[in-house]
Amino acid sequence: KKDLILSGKKILISAGPTYEAIDPVRFIGNHSSGKMGFELAKMAEKLGAEVTLVAGPTHQSVDGYNIKRMDVTSALSMLEAIESVYEAQDIVIMAAAVADYRPAEIADQKIKKNSDKMTIEMVKNPDILKHLGTKKGNKMLVGFALETNDAIKHAKGKLERKNADLIVLNTLEDEDAGFGVETNKVTFITADKEPLSFPLKSKTEVAKDILTFIAQNLKTNA
Ligand code: C5P
Repeated sequence: KKDLILSGKKILISAGPTYEAIDPVRFIGNHSSGKMGFELAKMAEKLGAEVTLVAGPTHQSVDGYNIKRMDVTSALSMLEAIESVYEAQDIVIMAAAVADYRPAEIADQKIKKNSDKMTIEMVKNPDILKHLGTKKGNKMLVGFALETNDAIKHAKGKLERKNADLIVLNTLEDEDAGFGVETNKVTFITADKEPLSFPLKSKTEVAKDILTFIAQNLKTNA
């Protein structure tokens, strides 16, 4: 596909939740549907990019699209999959809802309900986006943020801490934006521009806005 805005660009997108195992049958997860990341992957392919999608457990599909899909479960396996393809990319979008913590140990056997109380010790997962930011090169690195207070200030902090080029802030002021719905309302946070706010749109249209902005701001426009 030539002459499309992402023709010749390699893009890596992560999507969905991660599941952190407790024992062979149980996990700790979150309600991410994967919808936003999958819309980004499909739209990037339509716009001419060579797309790799690293997906946590979801019911989403990319059938009929020319997308390299890598399915993962935990944050550690997501990191490993991303690392294996990171170097070759021009653009990386972390749309996955990566679990911040995982159980310190995964029990070999199903844990029995022998006591009235139980405690699961958790350890911190690696911050994948922050890690990628330490070896960014000319890549365009994009993260998402969901904030409940002082959203723009916190998103700016996140942009700097993770060495990202763009943070897509999910605005919580609208009940139809965010987890498990078809629509989203976003603000783009960058280092050198004023925050750019969009109206409530379908996640397909939000994906197009994000990818158009990325295409216009690539450092590697050779
Ligand atoms: O710090 P916070 O979790 O709010 O940042 C959200 C951004 O960082 C998202 O782009 C998410 O995919 C990414 N992230 C990550 N690894 C983590 C936690 C978040 O890459 N362990």
